[in-house]
Amino acid sequence: MKTEKENGGKRRVIMRGLLATAVAMVGVLPLTPSQAADKIKVGFMLPYTGTYASLGNTIANAFKLAVAESGGKLAGREIEYYTVDDESDPAKAPENTNKLVKRDRVDVLVGTVHSGVAIGMAKIARETNTLMIVPNAGADEITGPLCAPNIFRTSFSNWQPGYATGKIMADKKYKTAVTLTWKYAAGQQMVDGFKEAFQKGGGKVLKEMTLPFPNVEFQPFLTEIASLKPDAVFVFFAGGGAVKFVKDYAAAGLKGKIPLYGTGFLTDGTLEAQGADAQGIITALHYADGLNTPKDNAFRAAYKKAYNAEPDVYAVQGYDAAQLLRIGLEAVKGDVSKKEQMYKAMGAAKIDSPRGTFTLSKAHNPVQDFYARQVNGKENKSTGIAVKALADPAHGCKL
Ligand code: BEZ
Repeated sequence: MKTEKENGGKRRVIMRGLLATAVAMVGVLPLTPSQAADKIKVGFMLPYTGTYASLGNTIANAFKLAVAESGGKLAGREIEYYTVDDESDPAKAPENTNKLVKRDRVDVLVGTVHSGVAIGMAKIARETNTLMIVPNAGADEITGPLCAPNIFRTSFSNWQPGYATGKIMADKKYKTAVTLTWKYAAGQQMVDGFKEAFQKGGGKVLKEMTLPFPNVEFQPFLTEIASLKPDAVFVFFAGGGAVKFVKDYAAAGLKGKIPLYGTGFLTDGTLEAQGADAQGIITALHYADGLNTPKDNAFRAAYKKAYNAEPDVYAVQGYDAAQLLRIGLEAVKGDVSKKEQMYKAMGAAKIDSPRGTFTLSKAHNPVQDFYARQVNGKENKSTGIAVKALADPAHGCKL
């Protein structure tokens, strides 16, 4: 007769065997009805307060529009949204990202707007192999040294719009320029891109000026620009700060005297508030008004109907983040555990965007056209393509 101890030991061995078989089977079986009924958890980490608040809201709205156009589901799975306001504060990025990754256990992180915050998010996304889609922040690092199989961007690298604007200014044969921006990754990297193209065309940068983000005390800089008398000025500002800068530039009497240029964020989503002070400003960006393609016209009409507002570049980037996610989910029939297969499909995606079709580089950054645009009324009217199929150099990416 066996003792209770011996019987218990045998039972434990059988249980361990059954458990191992069950675990192995989960990997090969199709989703059960209850798994398929589980919603895909999308974690929005975006700024809902501060100078970039309107950008964050627009991205979320357009993402939801794309999902709604797919019947509220992606690859047959319903979507559940989780939201964190990142306040555009890099110091809070680890804590805020972990709210979505560890507390809410989201399947995908969608964020963010501010480059410094995005760098903090990307570090956690890499460590935890959480899918991350960046719908704005241009930090060069994200698709440079921090690039990863699970990190994708549907917007731009900071270098790209800076380079395209510098090319426009060099083509205009300006000899000298002064730059002004917020002192953080986005501004500094856009200025670097600008300088590369401007200097290649023979231009000289007289002075690089910065102020802390999100400071808007522009007066001392405007006084200095007036005294330096460059041929042109290049700036990066966005959101509420861009509205104030364009108004202050005109109020200082510089409009019409020293041509003001910038990456397109200077006048995108801001024209209503900037009014007459923005008229004629030339910028470069991967989106413009007046593209008049069937895809863009349909997107603009749908966005206007849903939100009673004109879409801008942030809306396009948010919309395309959802389109990219759909491509990944469809490749794995909604089974997010098949990460490798999903990332592969996303990396190879050809996205039918309102901006025009684009693909992703090896580092997962859009390879896309940059438009030259000029403000006319309430539009950033395309005046043609400034740089075709511009790819970020992806310095330091080891994919
Ligand atoms: C950035 O921080 O990367 C950024 C913010 C607003 C507009 C464009 C870029």
